[in-house]
Amino acid sequence: MSGRVVVIGSLNIDLVTQVERHPRPGETLTGTDLVRLAGGKGANQAVAAADAGASVTMVGHVGDDEGGRAYRQRLADLGIDVDLVALDPQRPTGTALIVVDEAGENSIVIAPGANASALWPRTLEAAVGSLTAHDVVLLQQEIPAEANTAAIRGAHAAGARVLINLAPFAELPQDVLDLVDAVIVNEHEARQLADAGLTPPSTVTTHGAAGAGWDDERREGLRVPADRVVDTTGAGDAFCGALCAALAAAGSGEIDKGAALDAGQQAGATAVQHA
Ligand code: RIB
Repeated sequence: MSGRVVVIGSLNIDLVTQVERHPRPGETLTGTDLVRLAGGKGANQAVAAADAGASVTMVGHVGDDEGGRAYRQRLADLGIDVDLVALDPQRPTGTALIVVDEAGENSIVIAPGANASALWPRTLEAAVGSLTAHDVVLLQQEIPAEANTAAIRGAHAAGARVLINLAPFAELPQDVLDLVDAVIVNEHEARQLADAGLTPPSTVTTHGAAGAGWDDERREGLRVPADRVVDTTGAGDAFCGALCAALAAAGSGEIDKGAALDAGQQAGATAVQHA
């Protein structure tokens, strides 16, 4: 029996401009007109999992404002369960300021807003209470560390499969890390994890165009010609969402790590070819 992908994480409104090159400190550059997009690593991953055919529940917070309500509706229109995307009257919807250069590389500043909501304990209680052993819980690090810790402990106790994308990188206590089924990291985050002396039970590592691995299982990369790379923002999120959709299809049964890596890579390669 297949399970859900339950994404617990962030929802941001992305304000994006494109520049020839990234500015140096203190420098002002002119970019293209600002574009407003739906983002946030959590919601991006939820959309990728839904695109990959999974039944998806999003758990998080937006502000009780026009942007927040519209974002919640957008996810609902994509078939994602948003009952646990709560409106926080105390904080604005999270926002990410994103600058993309000619090579498609981005730099991002996040104003967390409702992603750092005081409502997390209540929201998590409801989310954890709904989990079964068939579900895959997918986390990232754009919500408070205490919320992630509580989510990991609760999801593990419920018997769900738990994966955390350690992005942006921040250390987790080793005893909390021990409760996840796997971490998902890029090469840079993998080095940060090793430098912190942390050892997860299992590791999925993305190597960009060079492929991806899950412990000893390796997969070649899908090469996207440089002139077709438009924007790398969210490519890692697409990978995580599609990978977890493949895992959820197995429910509590045996997983096929190679097939899950292939699904993740395919989604990542597609994501870089559009804004
Ligand atoms: O991974 C890309 C995402 O990071 C963007 O959508 C932005 O909101 C930031 O959270």
